Amino acid sequence: MASRTFGKGLRAASKANIPVQATARRTFVSALAVRPVSATLSKAALTRAVQQQTRGVKTIDFAGSKETVYEREDWPREKLLEYFQNDTLALIGYGSQGHGQGLNLRDNGLNVIIGVRKNGASWKEAVQDGWIPGTNLFDVDEAISKGTIVMNLLSDAAQSETWPAIKPQLTKGKTLYFSHGFSPVFKDLTKVDVPTDIDVILVAPKGSGRTVRTLFREGRGINSSIAVYQDVTGKAEEKAVALGVAVGSGYLYKTTFEKEVYSDLYGERGCLMGGIHGMFLAQYEVLRERGHSPSEAFNETVEEATQSLYPLIGANGMDWMYAACSTTARRGAIDWSSKFKDTLKPVFNELYDSVRDGTETKRSLEFNSQPDYREKYEQEMKQIRELEIWRAGKAVRSLRPENQ
Ligand SMILES: NC(=O)c1ccc[n+]([C@@H]2O[C@H](COP(=O)([O-])OP(=O)(O)OC[C@H]3O[C@@H](n4cnc5c(N)ncnc54)[C@H](OP(=O)(O)O)[C@@H]3O)[C@@H](O)[C@H]2O)c1
Repeated sequence: MASRTFGKGLRAASKANIPVQATARRTFVSALAVRPVSATLSKAALTRAVQQQTRGVKTIDFAGSKETVYEREDWPREKLLEYFQNDTLALIGYGSQGHGQGLNLRDNGLNVIIGVRKNGASWKEAVQDGWIPGTNLFDVDEAISKGTIVMNLLSDAAQSETWPAIKPQLTKGKTLYFSHGFSPVFKDLTKVDVPTDIDVILVAPKGSGRTVRTLFREGRGINSSIAVYQDVTGKAEEKAVALGVAVGSGYLYKTTFEKEVYSDLYGERGCLMGGIHGMFLAQYEVLRERGHSPSEAFNETVEEATQSLYPLIGANGMDWMYAACSTTARRGAIDWSSKFKDTLKPVFNELYDSVRDGTETKRSLEFNSQPDYREKYEQEMKQIRELEIWRAGKAVRSLRPENQ
């Protein structure tokens, strides 16, 4: 996602000679406020960005490491339709990913059916999205029996719970698809031992299913990982690439099931959500304890980060960000970054160990298999929602022009 956003932003800004800062809200960033983006990027960075946009390139040099990247342009819609002309894609589960991937497959014209438990929350959502009971909406078992490619997008806990019923239906010739390596990689815990005579593949979008859908509708595509767990036909990787494009990916990065699940569980617990929430809370609490008002503490912790700095880091990288801020900010941020890194690295190592040894999987299975897991989460969400930081945030967001 980052590379495409970057490329797009770069093209637009270069063309119009617009400084990136023009869109930033209040921020300590000042140095680049009047400099066009093209002038602030090194020639090498510019070349890299252009390479990222070049169509048909399959091997990309990521900071000295060459990796294979597949792209949507090689799989136009007509080719997808021909490739899957004899297939029924049975997409099981209609949560965030089921919704995004399912609607994209349908809009691409593929023969896709949805399988969810009758009259659950997902069934109602699917009906609202125009899936028709008995035509392209069935209960899980019926959908699997009709499918040649079974896309298991149940929650990870439900994949384990329903496996004894699903496995016998995965007969020779079918393909099993996941969007997370969780179930087969941690098979000792999940009991998801895939049949040995079918292809097992993965397409894991690097983002929420809502983003999978939004980017598709915008004519763009999400970055996804692809992997092959078992290749019986010799076509498993090709099928994963084609399905990856069909569900709405722009670029597909090759990995393994193991690496996908380790990095994903690690990332979401770390910088993507858990770690970042912990940092926000720690910084906010100290500011409040030292006498700062809620609005000041929130603005300095979350609002400036998410509205100004993080999008700029996403678009241009950390070196650019350092170069773009005041000399005062730059000196302090560089100095403190190593202290934070040294303090946090042991925590990240502990987290990685907890992912690799299955502790995180066990916890997730235990919690998410409980019949009242939704209610329990709602209680936790309520506690988070009621934290002062997020109540202050609500008030700050209400002042944004678009919310008035
Ligand atoms: N969310 C993301 O951002 C994301 C990103 C990449 C990959 N993934 C992966 O994609 C897969 C799907 O995740 P998700 O977030 O889209 O969905 P999810 O919210 O985790 O799961 C929701 C689906 O599971 C069904 N379900 C739950 N318990 C069930 C049970 N006991 N029997 C039958 N169905 C049950 C729900 O149906 P009801 O409504 O009937 O309960 C719903 O359709 C997972 O492997 C996940 O790791 C997710």
